[in-house]
Amino acid sequence: MLNPRLTEELTDFPFARLNALIAPIAPPAHLSMINMSVGEPQGAMPAFARKIVAEEVDGWNRYPPNQGIPDLNLAIVEWLSRRYRLPKGLLDPTRHVMPTAGSKEGVYIISTVATPQQKGGARPVVALPNPFYQAYLGGAVLSGAEPLLVDADVRNGFLPDFLAIDEATWKRISVVYLCSPANPQGAIADIGYLQRLIDKCREHDAVLAVDECYAEIYNRDAPVGGLEAALAMDTTGGEDPFRNIVVFHSLSKRSNAAGLRSGFMAGDPRLVAMLLRWRTYGGPQIPFAVQKASAALWRDEAHPIETREWYRRNFRAAEQILHNRFAYYTPGGGFFLWLDVGDGEEATRRLWGEAHLKVLPGAYVCRETAGVNAARRYIRVALVHDEDTTREAMKRLATVL
Ligand SMILES: Cc1ncc(COP(=O)(O)O)c(C=O)c1O
Repeated sequence: MLNPRLTEELTDFPFARLNALIAPIAPPAHLSMINMSVGEPQGAMPAFARKIVAEEVDGWNRYPPNQGIPDLNLAIVEWLSRRYRLPKGLLDPTRHVMPTAGSKEGVYIISTVATPQQKGGARPVVALPNPFYQAYLGGAVLSGAEPLLVDADVRNGFLPDFLAIDEATWKRISVVYLCSPANPQGAIADIGYLQRLIDKCREHDAVLAVDECYAEIYNRDAPVGGLEAALAMDTTGGEDPFRNIVVFHSLSKRSNAAGLRSGFMAGDPRLVAMLLRWRTYGGPQIPFAVQKASAALWRDEAHPIETREWYRRNFRAAEQILHNRFAYYTPGGGFFLWLDVGDGEEATRRLWGEAHLKVLPGAYVCRETAGVNAARRYIRVALVHDEDTTREAMKRLATVL
């Protein structure tokens, strides 16, 4: 009756495992719980966007357009052009972009959109970084492809070395997922890395799917983007400069708007068209109110500066309190600490039992390759609270571990 891909291959969702791990442990009742296991920003969505949603009275009786309301698509194209210095008019709001219900919808479904029944005469392969965001694996497995997990650890600067995959396997690859800035390690792919990967994907007619949902949360320089990298290497002058590449963005982190469920996909028009086709058959449209608020959020450049400052204060606090313990480093982007604590599960249990701190064992967002879980020594700590809470959490962590 049930799909074995769900019952057998997607069984160990990280947060279910975490809850099972700490369930038998009683936390200290005199300390308030600080949950740093989930990447859910605790800041407020800007008031102007809340107002737009609250004041939307029309439209609830109508189906919103699958492809997005024109004003939102335009706001997205304008933002992409500003953020990545793309020439005005290059991106077509009707062909190059499509709003999605958060970036999760897009990163999940791109595997289905781009995976044929067979590739290179065999079952297709979807390559993803390890550790990884769970929707990549969900997307890969449910598309029918064989997932190929490529370790991204301290030895390769936390960026997966997809180019080291053998040629026979490359012939079967339909999709390569890359997360930059990466969840969980915060590593940022530079333009050379992106361009080499784009080249390789094109050589094998694979799709490069770059998850850029943390693109606006960075500590020093703004991370380069996949579209920018593709444009800079374009020499054809004829074909679409974004062929075989798509990027995914989100308001969840940029605008503290995880509950809004708003993001977009941009890139190769053939892929955008097929994502739209999938949506017309089975995907969710985005409510008018959400689309209107989203257009206003993409147009505003003031609040992301405040958002970045929020996280920078948290990283400064973490750095001061942890010093260089646990191989501390301030990541290039994103809002996670990726701490080498020796045994991630044991540290998680102790932090819960002795400090009422909820963190995530690194191993839970990573799978074993060659019998080893590359993230077993780590915990992931989401610095999503305000600075005072972050300081309190870091003090507890430094005391217990
Ligand atoms: C790497 C990564 N990609 C995508 C998402 C999905 O976020 P959303 O659907 O809210 O944009 C998340 C959420 O935490 C994430 O960490």
